[in-house]
Amino acid sequence: MSLSRRTLLAACAGLPFATLDPASARSAGQDAGLGALAARSGRYFGAAVSSIDFAGDNAYARLLDTDCSVWVASWEMKWGALMPTLGGAIDFRAADVIVAAAARHGKRLRGHTLLWHEHLPAGAERLSTPADWQRFVAPHIATVAGRYRDAVFEWDVVNEAIEPYDGGADLMRRTPFYAMLGPDYVAEAFRLAAEAAPSARLYLNDDHVYYAEDWQEQRRTGLLRLLERLVKAGVPVHGLGMQGHLDTRRRFDEQVFRRFLQSLEDLGLTLAVTELDVTEAPDASGRSLDARRRRAAEEVRKVLAVALDSPALVGVVTWGLSDADSWLRKRGPDMFDNQGLPYDDALQPTPFRETLASLFASTRSRHAS
Ligand code: G3I
Repeated sequence: MSLSRRTLLAACAGLPFATLDPASARSAGQDAGLGALAARSGRYFGAAVSSIDFAGDNAYARLLDTDCSVWVASWEMKWGALMPTLGGAIDFRAADVIVAAAARHGKRLRGHTLLWHEHLPAGAERLSTPADWQRFVAPHIATVAGRYRDAVFEWDVVNEAIEPYDGGADLMRRTPFYAMLGPDYVAEAFRLAAEAAPSARLYLNDDHVYYAEDWQEQRRTGLLRLLERLVKAGVPVHGLGMQGHLDTRRRFDEQVFRRFLQSLEDLGLTLAVTELDVTEAPDASGRSLDARRRRAAEEVRKVLAVALDSPALVGVVTWGLSDADSWLRKRGPDMFDNQGLPYDDALQPTPFRETLASLFASTRSRHAS
């Protein structure tokens, strides 16, 4: 199996990172870059990055520079990455690599994520009392949000708080955070984040909200209930991040999604399409790469054309730029050469990227009356 780009980069860590001059950027991408195109309608475009992406002068890092106005750490700012063992040492070095690279290249940073039930410090899964929250969780939020108060403009404060299959009437996920404070843990997390980073925009982030299937309708219901409670209680929640892990097998209904966006707008929230990528059906591998890539681009067009109609949508972030290192290829036995991001393994633009460029270039400004 070919070495992933990041594995190769690990071998050349520490080389200077050169930027691509605008002229060659234009010739490379035939446009000013997705970030510049998105800015025309008052929005941002960005991608998840990893600290290893900046390990030297490489074509991928240059694409991240020319195509993105926003970066988000794909794992480095998560509790378990910062603190592998609960109560143990906290190590900001990997996260700081991304913060420094963003400052060097004039990128804004989304923070992902202060509270998530995955990628936790070892031992955190046993936390269960209010005293545990005061001893471990509150300091974690204050320390991380405080450290990056001037570097991160938008935080995913709580990630994936909804899980109807956990059986609760509130449709919320039963996590250690829920065990410690009940459903009010979400409000407390936002209050702590606002205290530590008063200028940051604070988002709830969740997955599976785009498609017209009952289980996703339940998730949208759970999210709206939670957000209504937070807004009515005056909790400093500013937006919803809608993880954009699209899937060519799902059924999209434009009116269903428009109604959901309208309900969110009615709450006065801003919206972001976070983590955009496309999962192909496993049987797709029997079709031509070109046909597969066009199908993935069609899925993006269907959904994003509706999302970009909302003046509340402030940004779009893809979960990486190149298929070469997509998490979608690391899912164990069913992994295959998923074609689901703006650039292919050879860092060539795909129809996915063409679709983003065309949508950004043609959408009306979110500030238009
Ligand atoms: O290589 C690093 C190692 O140097 C480091 O010490 C260690 C710290 O935990 O992490 C190692 O690499 C792995 C990293 O991905 C880079 O590949 C981590 O072990 C691994 O946990 C991490 O997985 C990430 C996962 O979230 C958990 O944080 C994936 O990259 C990332 O794509 C995935 O992203 C999630 C979103 O946060 C939430 N939505 C779903 C999405 C996909 O699962």
